[in-house]
Amino acid sequence: MDFQFGIPSEAIFGSGSSKKIGGILEGLNAKKVLCVYDQGVKVAGIVDKVLTYLKVGSIDVIEFDHVLPNPPDTIVDEGAQLAKEENVDAIVAIGGGSAIDAAKAINILLTNPGPIHQYDGLNLVTNPTKPLVAVPTTSGTGSEVTSFTVITDTTELKKMVIGGQHCGANIALLDPDLTIGLPPSVTAATGMDALTHAIEAYVSKAASVPSDVNALKAIELIYNNLEKAYKSGSNIEARTNMLLGSMLAAYAFNSAVLGLVHAIAHPLSVHCGLAHGVANACGLPYVMKYNAEDEKVQKRNKDIAKAMGLNVENLSNAEASEKAIEAVKKLSNALDIPTLEQVGVKREQFNQIAEDALKEIGMLFNPREATKEDVIRLLESAY
Ligand SMILES: NC(=O)c1ccc[n+]([C@@H]2O[C@H](COP(=O)([O-])OP(=O)(O)OC[C@H]3O[C@@H](n4cnc5c(N)ncnc54)[C@H](O)[C@@H]3O)[C@@H](O)[C@H]2O)c1
Ligand SMILES: [Zn+2]
Repeated sequence: MDFQFGIPSEAIFGSGSSKKIGGILEGLNAKKVLCVYDQGVKVAGIVDKVLTYLKVGSIDVIEFDHVLPNPPDTIVDEGAQLAKEENVDAIVAIGGGSAIDAAKAINILLTNPGPIHQYDGLNLVTNPTKPLVAVPTTSGTGSEVTSFTVITDTTELKKMVIGGQHCGANIALLDPDLTIGLPPSVTAATGMDALTHAIEAYVSKAASVPSDVNALKAIELIYNNLEKAYKSGSNIEARTNMLLGSMLAAYAFNSAVLGLVHAIAHPLSVHCGLAHGVANACGLPYVMKYNAEDEKVQKRNKDIAKAMGLNVENLSNAEASEKAIEAVKKLSNALDIPTLEQVGVKREQFNQIAEDALKEIGMLFNPREATKEDVIRLLESAY
């Protein structure tokens, strides 16, 4: 047995944990911090709340509020320029994966030369970065604990996956209270993204014992709490379990990487503007079905069904796998996940999406090797 497993960030989890941010930054010797967020979290009142906790000490705060979904390289340059002019000595990200990834990329450019594109890939960032504290407000990407940042290359029209050393947050401050006001549709999409992370990590070619343990626990937590969080946003137990589940899913995929669902989701976001979670949610059950033609995947899917709590003990691997796929489909329906047609994808775009999907890193780790025709058929199923 041989594997590589690790997480770049220390996780501090619990209701009210975001109140510790001031003390944490003082502990990191931060005097002036860049706070990175988007308009959605600002309007939700979360930024002001966290800034109140942050300003208890003598820490100066510079705010950068230009983050956009699927963050483009242009805002990374803008944020890095501001951070350099202001000579900040630490960064705080408040928000979903978009804010956290933008903050990570800005941090890279503070101590490494630009442009950011030269770091697309694994372990290409050489200089150590400044302290970064990530405060997630969605229960989806798990970016607060991963060593990846995903940035849209607006020239090449692709999502760069920049990963490895110096790319993570030092401290993840996971406070479920901050996720209470997440709107239902965002709860659904980001939660399905987290479920996709766990499932893709579990069937990945790079899965290992530690990634498996985390993936299965994540599947149990997410499958049994996502609909509750969607239907009743203020259910703090469901919100807590979703934040924990999304974090554990990230523990799994940070080493096991992802697969075909993400490989298709990235070009869907780039060419059709789909939110990351929606793009994954649309494809997940169909890719699961496609992968389940492999008998080894059927066996893995039986474990997934068990983690979900389905009664599959006496079923064959193939039958249990079918139950897991049906359960994911049923969950998608309960969460009102749209079809690709409903979110405005055009059939004429399938060819380009399929070509770009083949170049994605997820293709290397998916348990079945897919062709362009396979991807087009999958897009057709999700239409
Ligand atoms: N770095 C990684 O390891 C990793 C992994 C998976 C995905 N990603 C990336 O993360 C990005 C997606 O992040 P996301 O799915 O978290 O979405 P997001 O960060 O784009 O947020 C979605 C929307 O929800 C709003 N929002 C966030 N929290 C809220 C709250 N508590 N209350 C009200 N509104 C709130 C935001 O303002 C935004 O409008 C994509 O670019 C994706 O590629 C990164
Ligand atoms: Zn994802």
